[in-house]
Amino acid sequence: MPDADKPRGGGEEKNYGIGIPMETPGFFLKGSAHLNWGMKNRLSQIFNPKSGRTVMLAFDHGYIMGPTTGLERIDLVVPPLIPHIDCLMCTRGALRSCIGPEVRKPVVMRCSTGATVLKELSNETIGVTIEEALALNASAVTAQACIGAEFERETLENLSYLINEGAQYGMPVLGVTAVGKEMVRDARYLGLACRVIAELGVHFVKTYYCEPGFEEVVAGTPVPVVIAGGKKLPELDALKMAHKAIDQGAMGVDMGRNIFAADDPAAMAQAVGAVVHQLFKPEQAFELYNDLRKK
Ligand code: 5RP
Repeated sequence: MPDADKPRGGGEEKNYGIGIPMETPGFFLKGSAHLNWGMKNRLSQIFNPKSGRTVMLAFDHGYIMGPTTGLERIDLVVPPLIPHIDCLMCTRGALRSCIGPEVRKPVVMRCSTGATVLKELSNETIGVTIEEALALNASAVTAQACIGAEFERETLENLSYLINEGAQYGMPVLGVTAVGKEMVRDARYLGLACRVIAELGVHFVKTYYCEPGFEEVVAGTPVPVVIAGGKKLPELDALKMAHKAIDQGAMGVDMGRNIFAADDPAAMAQAVGAVVHQLFKPEQAFELYNDLRKK
């Protein structure tokens, strides 16, 4: 067996080929050239083929946290944001109860369940079948991997189940790298988690921005990486984080609290979109945010 990896500076330098983009022959998304038509079509709904990137709105927080701040009323908060984002990421319960079926944006469906903030978060199972996700017209399904946590193995089994079942229907899988309370969100940990689930077979990965070393996390992950927003930050800081992530190779954001809990969520969704798709600098996007807020 190979030894556990050494930390950087521990006598073994790595070579991530920073600055050499991975080739994407025949299809715009990293690591996706050899997928089938259905997978590619669903991924093209989530990622804008023109920019190659996506703004996903994450509002699945209630499945572990209950009515989190800013998301107490999904029916009031989310529908006005839909025109300004590319993709919805949510549970089936939130989708069916609060989002009108006329919506034309793709859905990434949270399929894991079994834990809440009151207990061990890694103790999850799969609660939504692929057939149910298909019946709800999902464009991808998702579960989290809790690397290094008590139920690491079970969370990897959950992802494997979705990958295996999804393969029969051309259904892509988003792997979320969850971070437990005791885990450090550094490049070494996130790089390991992202690579493990990419090799397991997820089609895109959601992780946290980290510095230093985010570029290496992205380079070591052979499929698209999107970032979560994490805890609510001042709007300019959230735009700076999104900008750094895109600049260092992320293919978008899957952001929740920093959009729906912003002072003006619709303006923030548009400002984040300007960073992701038009490569606005953070200050420029913040100016846009303030202009839109006045309206
Ligand atoms: C948790 C998730 C959430 O969707 C994620 O935390 C994104 O939301 P935020 O930007 O608020 O962190 O996947 O596992």
